[in-house]
Amino acid sequence: MTHRASAVIGGVILLFTVTSCSMMGSMMAPMMGMGDKMSAMKNMDKVFDMSPDEMKQYAAAKERASWEHGKEMFSDAELGGAKMGLSCNSCHPGGGTTGGEAQIPMRKFKMPIPTLIGASGTFPKYKIPNDEVITLQQMNNNCNKMFMGGSGLEMNSTDAWDLEKFVASLSNGEEVSVGGQMAESGN
Ligand code: HEC
Repeated sequence: MTHRASAVIGGVILLFTVTSCSMMGSMMAPMMGMGDKMSAMKNMDKVFDMSPDEMKQYAAAKERASWEHGKEMFSDAELGGAKMGLSCNSCHPGGGTTGGEAQIPMRKFKMPIPTLIGASGTFPKYKIPNDEVITLQQMNNNCNKMFMGGSGLEMNSTDAWDLEKFVASLSNGEEVSVGGQMAESGN
């Protein structure tokens, strides 16, 4: 066999290997997406047996439980391992503000405490400590880390969503500027 011929055969084998790998990839991709799909559908068997009224009550009970858990966490001075004796409610009483300022530990910097009423609709928005646009869940963690000595809740965990649920509910019925500054400037 000439070198040329073996190079051609080698090339064909290589091409075949690359092609079959990418075929495997495209076959695997939808299978890997199945997890999410299953999770979005996991409840369907249960609710198919329910009447529309039962379904509404079921959803409302789930929603209420999430809100109640969020409300509890809001007043938990040990949230996320917090160790300064402060809960969210200490600075944002009833979801509002004490009207005071909060000291960032170990820094001279003080920040005025805002009310959370109407705040949820302004997220995602830019925050200086992060130097990027962040979600409400990340903001809740900012406060837990910066002002309570906690290490934050795991992102996208049930706890983080329940706290977000409660904080978001503080804006019910309020006029909000969706997405922060951009909405205010009309862009
Ligand atoms: C020691 C006081 C203090 C505590 C405790 C505290 N916060 Fe805050 N919070 C602040 C201050 C100060 C800001 C402004 C910080 C900023 O804008 O970066 C703020 C901002 C926020 C905002 C953003 C409001 C907006 O309009 O941008 C949210 C949401 C929030 N806090 C939720 C929480 C939650 C949830 C907790 C409990 C996990 C909490 N805070 C605990 C002082 C506190």
